[in-house]
Amino acid sequence: MDLKGKTILLTGATGGIGEAIARQLTECGSRLILVGRSDKNLKYMARELRLARNNGFTLQADIATHAGRETIRTALIALENPIDVLINCAGVSLFGFLEDNQPADIEKMINTNVTATILLTQQVLPFLNKDQGRILIVGSSFGALGFPGFAAYCASKFALRGFAEALRRELADSKMQVAHIAPRATNTRLNSDAVVELNDALGNNVDEPEDVALAVENLLSMRNIHDVNLGWPERLFLRINAVFPRLIDKALRGKLPLIRSFVRKERDVNTKHVTINPV
Ligand SMILES: NC(=O)c1ccc[n+]([C@@H]2O[C@H](COP(=O)([O-])OP(=O)(O)OC[C@H]3O[C@@H](n4cnc5c(N)ncnc54)[C@H](OP(=O)(O)O)[C@@H]3O)[C@@H](O)[C@H]2O)c1
Repeated sequence: MDLKGKTILLTGATGGIGEAIARQLTECGSRLILVGRSDKNLKYMARELRLARNNGFTLQADIATHAGRETIRTALIALENPIDVLINCAGVSLFGFLEDNQPADIEKMINTNVTATILLTQQVLPFLNKDQGRILIVGSSFGALGFPGFAAYCASKFALRGFAEALRRELADSKMQVAHIAPRATNTRLNSDAVVELNDALGNNVDEPEDVALAVENLLSMRNIHDVNLGWPERLFLRINAVFPRLIDKALRGKLPLIRSFVRKERDVNTKHVTINPV
């Protein structure tokens, strides 16, 4: 697909990866509809990317709410033409062992990463170009490999991978296409200090958001889009995990004490942030 002049709806546009994708697609001459929660950040991006030049615009919407998704639907109704691409990039993370996770945080994360993404996609589907519409889901390598300290987050990303696969098969007799792209660790504010330090201690490769954005552009530019797992050796680990999960179990068992030390660090930081009012 030639991305020039294509209308692309991007959620998570004010985040590290989303902003990089927006910049990359602006270079391609796409018309961007950028969705985010912070009006200030969206205004900054609209100015920086000179969105109006390509007839693009921003939408302030919390996709985890019905009202937020309605804001997006109303804007799509007002468009003269269907949109060409939906990129579901908005997401939140949660680091810590399950026993320490706050139920409200788990609910918020599942609601944002899974429920909101599915409901928004459902809502956008009628507005997608029937001749060449594309849906791209930004998942994670943790959507195919369960990692200690991220049980609930992994669950949300596994769900998205299943959603993308099933939707692709549902639309197989149409001209619309669905793909899932799975970044590995990426240098954005999604990752807390403890997670950044854990990646460092484990020797994990960390991409820049621009690497992910380039991969998104390359994928969308193809005639037929397909699922992509970013990074080597992560791609290899995902394959080994799919075929011999016990090998990965064993390898991660050996890392558990290290992971636990950073989980404790995260818990200590979060505990300090809780204000206890004296009785
Ligand atoms: N960074 C990584 O290591 C990594 C690795 C693999 C996959 N990913 C995935 O990549 C995607 C982007 O992550 P990132 O690293 O760019 O994170 P980020 O910098 O924290 O950005 C997250 C984006 O999601 C938006 N968002 C969160 N909740 C929202 C809601 N309820 N309604 C609307 N927007 C909402 C945020 O908006 P606000 O600006 O309003 O907060 C922000 O634009 C996520 O799906 C993440 O799971 C990230």
